[in-house]
Order: sequence, then C-alpha cells, then structure tokens
Amino acid sequence: MSAQRLDGKACAAEVERALAKRIAALSDDGIVPHLAVIIVGDDPASHVYVNSKVRTCERLGIRSTHIELPADTDEAVLKDHVEKMNHQDDLHGILIQSPLPSHMDEEAITDMIHPSKDVDGFHPQNLGRLVQGRVDGLLPCTPSGVMRMLDWAGIELAGKRAVVLGRSRIVGMPAALLLAARGADATVTVAHSKTESVETICSEADIIVAAVGRPEMVQASWVKPGAVVVDVGINRVDDASRERGWRLAGDVDPAVEDVAGWLSPVPGGVGPMTIAMLMENTVRSAELRRDLGSE
Ligand code: GUN
Repeated sequence: MSAQRLDGKACAAEVERALAKRIAALSDDGIVPHLAVIIVGDDPASHVYVNSKVRTCERLGIRSTHIELPADTDEAVLKDHVEKMNHQDDLHGILIQSPLPSHMDEEAITDMIHPSKDVDGFHPQNLGRLVQGRVDGLLPCTPSGVMRMLDWAGIELAGKRAVVLGRSRIVGMPAALLLAARGADATVTVAHSKTESVETICSEADIIVAAVGRPEMVQASWVKPGAVVVDVGINRVDDASRERGWRLAGDVDPAVEDVAGWLSPVPGGVGPMTIAMLMENTVRSAELRRDLGSE
C-alpha cells in the first residue's frame, strides 16, 4: 500500500483563491491588507521562510514591510519597532520570525504585539482563547494549516485517536488543542521528550502529527496501517551526495509511506499551508479592523 498524498501545495492554492476575493472586497473599501515581517540575525533557514512569506504577499496583493535587523540588535530596538507598528493604522499584522537571538526574550516581545495584529496567534490572549475552545480568533498558522489540510482531504477526526509529537508553543500544544476542540473532536495524546514507549503510543493512533524537529524519527513500525501521518518537520541533514551538501528531511521516515493511509510530503505539505494561514490571518485582521471602523 502506498499512502495518499496530503498535498499542502494544492490546498494552499485553494485557500489563496478564496483569499483573492476577500482582498478584492477590501480593496473596494479602500483597504490594502498589510503585513510586517521582522527577522533578526542571519539564520539561513529563517531567511528562506521569511522571503517566501514576503513573496506570497506580493502574489496576493497584500502589502508587506520586511525589516531585517542584525543579530546583535539591542532588544530595545526591536521593541521600539513593535511599539510603533502597534499604533500604525494601515498595518494589520506583525510577525517576528522565530527563533530570535539568545540575548532576546522572545516571550516578552510576543506579549508586546497587539493581539489584534498577532497574525502568528502566539499572544497569550489569542492562545488563551484557543484554550477556552474559541477557535474563531487568530490561530497559530502551522496548526491551523494542518487542520485545514485534514478537512480539505475529507479526513474524519471525531472520536479518533490523535498523537501529537512535540509540545511547542508554535505547533505541538496548539495542534493538540485544535484536534481536541469541539467540532474536531479527536481524543488527543501529547508526547514529548520524556514520554515513555512513544512507539507504542504512536502505533495505537489513527492520526499522528509529528512536530519534534528530529529528522525521520517516526518509523514505519510505529504507524498503524492506514493511519494519517502529518509531517511538520523540516530539518536540514548532511548529505554529501548533494551538490549543496545537505537535503531536507521531515520528522517522518520515508518508509512510512508504505504503511500510512495518508502522508504529508516534505516539502509541499505543511509548509505551504503555514504561509496560506498567515495570509488568511492578515486578511482577517484587516477585515476585523474595517468592521470595527464601520460600526
Ligand atoms: N519560526 C518557525 N515557524 C514560525 C512561525 O510560524 N512563526 C514565526 N514567527 N516564526 C516561526
């Protein structure tokens, strides 16, 4: 058996088509959705992600402001940018690419972003709403992209056993909350670095969401035949056979394809969905601001 492909690229293209109509409607009201992306330092992978976000904005007619700061930037300088952007009327979304250099307090900076402009969905107010089961706010992009892709593929979650590997604030924990929320209704286990018998736990799952950042960790022997496997990992691994000396690997071993019922590819799975959800959050934020102004 070979798994069906959870094609994030195709699903993201569909999301973009729907967004184009909403962007046109905003334009009729004289509004151009506007996203600011700030990156600090020179991590090559982060620059690739940020460039891809900016290019998608351009393609969709979302205005973008792209700010690059050197790795030794004083935290106060970054906070000053955020403070100004919070008050900038024509700006709808602020994204600060993670990770930040170690001398910066990432949580304190996330907390400063105005919740209505928090298109990453990481602000305690937005995450708090999610904990309350309110899934109509600005949701973290990778987990909401995973959910959208599962829905698009017609995968039924109600009553199913889901295992989320990883408990990060960006992916694992919000993904677990969304899978367990009313409407999705899965039964969720969160596994992490201290979990015992992770293979056994995975082997009982109908859905596995792998978000640990460990190349090809999830083995075919861990997966129940026919299970849905979502690979959130995007790891660079050394590969002397490639001209550039490395290749991309997910958190899931390629042999899982022979066992799973569905599998998301890397690249072309969760990555494009994360960006599509960021665009959707930016448009949503612009619509909410418009609607507040017209009340
Ligand atoms: N780094 C990796 N994923 C993300 C994301 O979704 N948002 C931000 N801001 N940084 C990231």
